Amino acid sequence: MADVEHTLLLIKPDAVRRGLVGEILSRVERKGLRIRALELRTIDDDLARRHYAEHAAKPFFADLVAFITSGPLVAAVIEGPRAVETLRTLMGSTDPVAAPPGTIRGDFGLLVTENLVHGSDSVTSAAREIALFFPHFAADA
Ligand code: PPS
Repeated sequence: MADVEHTLLLIKPDAVRRGLVGEILSRVERKGLRIRALELRTIDDDLARRHYAEHAAKPFFADLVAFITSGPLVAAVIEGPRAVETLRTLMGSTDPVAAPPGTIRGDFGLLVTENLVHGSDSVTSAAREIALFFPHFAADA
């Protein structure tokens, strides 16, 4: 497949609590992207801090870590042509108020602090994040 990429999707604890896992995975699959790895887990403080390391200096960092560790999330490796950009388009912008209807955040979100999903922002970030969540993932397996 041309330009095949892998990206990390997190269905965050707010979306799991609200019963939106199936809806979100369904949108990803209906788009034509493929789920290559999938896990429900509650992550610890250490993984949360490493995942969001680039935001460590931001004023909201402590809240972000507290939120992402507040309950189970679903982590997935998503594969497809230009998967990084395609997933972020499906998600909509970080602030759900600015995300258009038809996107996951636009349809289901209200608050930037509980914005349902995370998608890697570049191919480089995706490789780093997939290695954190799925250390044994092999793209060619
Ligand atoms: S920035 O400042 O532009 O780099 O931040 P951004 O890329 O928009 O967001 C980085 C992640 O932090 C989340 N976020 C927040 N969490 C809590 N409180 C506030 N105010 C806040 N603003 C942004 C945002 O959802 C990003 O997380 P992910 O998981 O990547 O969506």
